[in-house]
Amino acid sequence: SGLAQDFRPTFHYTPPKNWVNDPNGLVYLDGEYHLFYQYNPFGNKWGHMSWGHAVSKDLVTWETLPVALPEYPNTDGTTTMVFSGCAVVDSLNTSGFFEEGFHKGLVAIYTSHIEGKAQHQSIAYSSDKGRTWQLYEKNPVLDLGMKDFRDPNVIWYPEHNAWIMTVVKPLEYTVQFYESKDLKTWALLSEFGKQGDMTKIWECPSLIKIPVEGKGKNQSKWVLMISSGHRQKGYLAMQYFVGDFDGKQFTPQKQEEILYVDEGKDFYAGIPFSNLPPKHKKPIMIGWINDWEYANDIPTGDTWRGAFSVPREMSLRMTPNGYRLFQRPVPMFQKVMSKKALVAKNAAISGVWKVPFQGDSYDLLLVIQPQKAEGFTLRLLQSGEEATVLRYDVATQELSLDRTKSGLTDFHRRFSGIDRVKVPLRKGKLYVRVLVDKSIVEVFAQGGEKVMTNWVFPTKNAGEISIASEGSSIKVNSLSIKTF
Ligand code: FRU
Repeated sequence: SGLAQDFRPTFHYTPPKNWVNDPNGLVYLDGEYHLFYQYNPFGNKWGHMSWGHAVSKDLVTWETLPVALPEYPNTDGTTTMVFSGCAVVDSLNTSGFFEEGFHKGLVAIYTSHIEGKAQHQSIAYSSDKGRTWQLYEKNPVLDLGMKDFRDPNVIWYPEHNAWIMTVVKPLEYTVQFYESKDLKTWALLSEFGKQGDMTKIWECPSLIKIPVEGKGKNQSKWVLMISSGHRQKGYLAMQYFVGDFDGKQFTPQKQEEILYVDEGKDFYAGIPFSNLPPKHKKPIMIGWINDWEYANDIPTGDTWRGAFSVPREMSLRMTPNGYRLFQRPVPMFQKVMSKKALVAKNAAISGVWKVPFQGDSYDLLLVIQPQKAEGFTLRLLQSGEEATVLRYDVATQELSLDRTKSGLTDFHRRFSGIDRVKVPLRKGKLYVRVLVDKSIVEVFAQGGEKVMTNWVFPTKNAGEISIASEGSSIKVNSLSIKTF
């Protein structure tokens, strides 16, 4: 135990070796979900940024393919790194890159990064489902002569018969929207920015339409997600705005507070899939599990570094404070887990209850009522004193995830800590779903209204679970655990 390979998750995608950061070019085509990603083919720290590639038939198990878009030399001796971006299926051959009548052409739109000199947007195309790519000979397609201008995300906007790109000027906290008929010529539509969280630079924006659930359903709203910072926490995080988009301009709803996609420390650079088949009623996003603060230092050893979240379905719900984003692991994921193993039903707990289960890779669902207790804790990945502790405090209505005693924490001074998020009970109950996967803990509270994603690096592997009441007794309405 404590060996680096013990940290490799089983149902979260990790590269066989080397460094990864942002997911790129999430796109569905012909039975395959593509996950391209920021990848260093030569080492386990950031560098030589290229697009790595994996495919999946079910969004659960992934097959790693060769590097799709490697960094490339320029005639002036500089090198272009292939920074973050997206991919679209150009089924109408708007780009003219494909043979007449071919509906399965992929176009990647990425940031061409020339170290210390420039960032602009470029495109590449593939006629063989992303296996091989040609760079467009007239790249870049969008150049403002800036050093920081990146992370294009493109959607098809049927009302205009056009593509719309969302892209960011990171240092100016400004998102720009562009329109194009052919993916080659882009015209500025509008800008949005200088509001919300500006504690860190802005990166990886995306604009998508998300259906409303519950009250006001059958509608949808536009959501603008931006990777940036978390004002209260001082770490990186993703923020989002809910609003309207009229084909030209994004207008956010009135918003009292800043909205964050994930309240943990390790969820960043998430983007939605493009071209999902209609059976998916909701958009799906994947994020990078890491935080730039210590991403290059996480102790996963000499082979791989970095991972991707479980694909998450996104929906909106109207709350007393306005629309809020809800996220849940995609249902396909649940299908491949073992049959529901019900561990407890209507059990009263007073003091510490050791759950009759041991493991380090599972999907746990807990419905719990604190009743008159001050709070309760759920200890995960526990071996003696070592544990990742999820705690609910009734007085403050806060759910917290404590990784101070989770195992290896001292590899970076910014790693250890406790995340807190306000989660009101619903009819006296807290619903938590926790995906535990060796070194990754993804917490979905109250049906995905609040999410917390964190790395943890347990050094012992007893994998015990316990639940403890604080003050007086609590009621576990149900506890079930599924394994992969
Ligand atoms: C976000 C980011 C992007 C950039 C990429 C480079 O994590 O900084 O803005 O395109 O990583 O690897």
